[in-house]
Amino acid sequence: MTLRSVNGLRLLGRLRELGSVGRDEAGRLVRLAASDTEKIGRDRLAQWVEQAGLELAVDRIGNVFGIWAPNGLDAASKPLMLGSHIDTVINAGIFDGCYGVLAGLEVIETLKAEGFDPDRPIVVGAFTNEEGVRYAPDMMGSLVYSGGLSVEAALASVGTDGSVLGEELARIGYAGPNEPGFLKPHAYLELHIEQGPVLEREGAPIGAVENLQGISWQKVMIEGDANHAGTTPISMRRDAGLAAARVITFLRERAIASNTPTVATVGCMEFEPNAINVIPSKATFTVDLRDPDEERLLAEEAALADYLERIADEEQVAISVERLARFQPVTFDDGIVAEIEAAAAGRGLRSRRMTSGAGHDAQMIARIAPAAMIFVPSIGGISHNPKEHTPDEDLIAGANVLLDVVRKLTSSDD
Ligand code: GLV
Ligand code: MN
Ligand code: MN
Repeated sequence: MTLRSVNGLRLLGRLRELGSVGRDEAGRLVRLAASDTEKIGRDRLAQWVEQAGLELAVDRIGNVFGIWAPNGLDAASKPLMLGSHIDTVINAGIFDGCYGVLAGLEVIETLKAEGFDPDRPIVVGAFTNEEGVRYAPDMMGSLVYSGGLSVEAALASVGTDGSVLGEELARIGYAGPNEPGFLKPHAYLELHIEQGPVLEREGAPIGAVENLQGISWQKVMIEGDANHAGTTPISMRRDAGLAAARVITFLRERAIASNTPTVATVGCMEFEPNAINVIPSKATFTVDLRDPDEERLLAEEAALADYLERIADEEQVAISVERLARFQPVTFDDGIVAEIEAAAAGRGLRSRRMTSGAGHDAQMIARIAPAAMIFVPSIGGISHNPKEHTPDEDLIAGANVLLDVVRKLTSSDD
């Protein structure tokens, strides 16, 4: 039997078109959650959803859904849910998140066109603020959807630019009427680029993602004293900037020495008053810690807390910490992971089981439904960067594997 396939050209065309939405004057892709540029992306997605003949639904946290419930199926009756996100980081690539949303739509359109008769509705979702760049925590829309955070608390989130998420969603027209969680998924599938080097290195076009590492986000504030850079002897300084720098090197040295998969990143850093000839009175920075093992992640958090106490003493600075996000490692549904492997084999594609290093909406929806992810290779393991790239052939292969798993999970004889 020949397997039907997705319309690869349509999928690639939409990916590139969405990737052109939200470019700043310098040509950088910046489509932060609930921003003006993200509105344009959302509007384009909504048009595609409606052109495909799907029901468009938006919930109170701004998650957008395209619902296919043919032949008298009740949309709310345990649909198979596909999805990801269309918000981006600053200076992003075009594939992160968008690929999973547009491939989900492509799969539904393909099944619809071939007259497939699913035994349950199929839904594609784009979840709000997955990246967490503008509002914390990340994966916010799917976290709220799965009941892990109240919609009120999420809507009250204040962004890095001082905006309030609820106000921004209303302003751009995406504060929808549906209660998050209004569709209870039978299962959830997310297709995504790997964003790491494993699949390319091993020459495997498909990753069957069986788990996802734990994520800890903290904001650290260090307070010392501003003073004159030329006249203050080193021994008399309370230098918040130096203390911050010591934390960065501590994290890197500890991660290297640990010989474990632990990763630690300081991605944001601000000094006050931020002047060339003034000792920093304040340093504010973020720490992103990740590990697939919860015990180790707890140990890393404890080691950081101990170190902060130590440098508070040694550098005579005051330190406070705010938790921005904390998610335990997640194990995906073994049955769905096996279906992904089988679907890849059915298309003659080599697959390997793997761990996701990145956070994804699937880890949140896994709280309310069996979930798993499909990865495709990222060239050079590069992501959160405009150089992010996956060859067309791999993008289409991943969408076809998604198509086959969806067909399997919505066939009556399953
Ligand atoms: C989401 O992109 C993450 O930070 O892993
Ligand atoms: Mn993503
Ligand atoms: Mn991302």
